[in-house]
Amino acid sequence: MANSWKISLLLLVVSVISSSFASVPFINNDESRDDMIFIFGKWFHKNGLPILPAQATRPQIFQQCLDHNNSSGCQTKWNQRYWVREDYYAAGGPIFFQFGGEGPADALIDNYYWHAYAQEYNAMLVVLEHRFYGESWPSNDDSMEVLQTLTSQNALADAAYFIDEFTASQGLNGSDWVAFGGSYAGNLAAWMKQKYPNHVKTAVASSGPLLAVYDFPGYLETVSEVVKALDTVCYDKVYDAFNCMESLVNGSNCGNYSTVSEIIPALRQCSSVDFSDLLDRETFFNILAMGRWADNWPSAGVRRNCAVITSVSGSDPLSIYGNFLVEMGQGGNCKVRAKSAIQENEEILKFIRSKEGKQSGAAGWFWQTCYEFGYYMSADPKNGLFGYSTFSGWPYGISCGYEFGSMFTKEYTEERIAMTNEYYKGKEIDSKCVILVNGEWDPWHTLGINNASETSSDNTVVYVPRAEHCDDMLNPKTEDMREAQALIQRQIGIYLNDSKC
Ligand SMILES: *[C@@H]1O[C@H](CO)[C@@H](O)[C@H](O)[C@H]1NC(C)=O
Ligand SMILES: *[C@@H]1O[C@H](CO)[C@@H](O)[C@H](O)[C@H]1NC(C)=O
Ligand SMILES: *[C@@H]1O[C@H](CO)[C@@H](O)[C@H](O)[C@H]1NC(C)=O
Ligand SMILES: *[C@@H]1O[C@H](CO)[C@@H](O)[C@H](O)[C@H]1NC(C)=O
Ligand SMILES: *[C@@H]1O[C@H](CO)[C@@H](O)[C@H](O)[C@H]1NC(C)=O
Ligand SMILES: *[C@@H]1O[C@H](CO)[C@@H](O)[C@H](O)[C@H]1NC(C)=O
Ligand SMILES: *[C@@H]1O[C@H](CO)[C@@H](O)[C@H](O)[C@H]1NC(C)=O
Repeated sequence: MANSWKISLLLLVVSVISSSFASVPFINNDESRDDMIFIFGKWFHKNGLPILPAQATRPQIFQQCLDHNNSSGCQTKWNQRYWVREDYYAAGGPIFFQFGGEGPADALIDNYYWHAYAQEYNAMLVVLEHRFYGESWPSNDDSMEVLQTLTSQNALADAAYFIDEFTASQGLNGSDWVAFGGSYAGNLAAWMKQKYPNHVKTAVASSGPLLAVYDFPGYLETVSEVVKALDTVCYDKVYDAFNCMESLVNGSNCGNYSTVSEIIPALRQCSSVDFSDLLDRETFFNILAMGRWADNWPSAGVRRNCAVITSVSGSDPLSIYGNFLVEMGQGGNCKVRAKSAIQENEEILKFIRSKEGKQSGAAGWFWQTCYEFGYYMSADPKNGLFGYSTFSGWPYGISCGYEFGSMFTKEYTEERIAMTNEYYKGKEIDSKCVILVNGEWDPWHTLGINNASETSSDNTVVYVPRAEHCDDMLNPKTEDMREAQALIQRQIGIYLNDSKC
């Protein structure tokens, strides 16, 4: 029936929350995580295994259309997984519909804070797994070409068709649907209300990066702000180290250092980097910054890193940073894998083509960044904590061409991104009754709407101080979050009663 990797799938459970990626097609050189691979800002298990254990509610199968954009496309059906829970439901109550995102959706139905909202409104809970993630594969063909129909537009059309069919088959005519989602799936929730306003009454979009971009400096800009807020001594040490390296790249001196070739021994690394080769150089700085500091929940790692960097000694900024890397298990005694940019990319591409890479969601998300969104992290010229221009998004974007063919140039991906922003209108989203939630310490938040002044007063903006990626989907850890969730809960009720929604 299916190709072997699909048959061999165990019940995969990866929280969509934890599978919200940055896009980093390079491994981290942290020796302690040899069984993991770092792609698109996210760690994947090399064996494809899930992060969370299987949940209580079993999946059901929906017969979904292959292509919604083709009158005969619905003649070809495929098995899409969905989950339902009715324990809070009272007849006539709303249906809370959560979009699966860029990973297996198993864990969504039995977890997360939407249960509290569902209890309040006697809602039914429904989760639909996103096509080409988890076990919801529309095709038995396991080539990368099948990913052509993996688009956010098809995901929205899948949801609309599902809502129609489920409403009819369960006799739910007249019930209000509410879309939920976090991260990329947060975009889908907001876009659902924009593109299919009659299918959902309202939407709660958590941490959705609505604006697609090729170079994405905002990610590290937020990380910089977290470092600054938590530890200014640490901030200065990191800043000085990267500023010193960037000066050397620019041909200036830095203290007693005068050439780029001194960087590697000063950092006590043993990889060979050709600093005159742009890709090699940008890849080096990318790994140095992203590999150690990038995280969708940055504060914990920043605290850990800063405790170390403020305790190590050294006679100059580079030797301090080198001692920090050694202390963190990175570098020294030639333990660090010395890989060229091409080798890094080959490792990534091999993984995403493997059955484990497909199971984990890495393959599909790789495609969607190349074809729809970009989101390729670059150095942040605003704070310059990791250099002002040490790396662009190009070292990530270049792998699109390696995998999908030479037409996937930077220009092509930029064109696709422009089409995405034209279609969904980026931050100028043209919707009513959408609740947009973002956190100050979420590295993605600069691509979302963080202030009521940025959108129509027909939507609701909830911006939570010091909250990280999708934190509003979890139990509250701060008073600010408690208040935010109370507001979200109230607003769902208001929109459910509002005839303009
Ligand atoms: C429409 O979909 C069918 C079934 O998937 C496919 O065979 C056909 O080529 C498609 N037609 C167009 C014009 O895309
Ligand atoms: C359908 O096709 C049109 C024209 O090719 C395109 O603009 C639109 O984005 C497609 N919609 C979906 C859901 O793929
Ligand atoms: C749903 O209910 C409305 C109003 O009662 C009715 O007009 C419509 O035909 C119903 N739709 C279906 C699919 O039953
Ligand atoms: C290095 O040069 C780039 C490009 O001109 C510039 O943006 C950056 O600020 C310079 N960095 C340093 C540390 O001088
Ligand atoms: C540069 O080297 C000299 C001589 O070894 C030393 O005295 C001085 O402190 C060094 N300066 C810096 C900024 O490291
Ligand atoms: C939101 O935008 C308004 C108007 O631009 C500004 O005055 C206000 O400070 C902003 N609020 C936050 C929390 O940034
Ligand atoms: C919505 O309307 C119902 C019925 O009129 C009412 O009981 C409920 O309190 C309203 N909820 C909100 C949040 O306004």
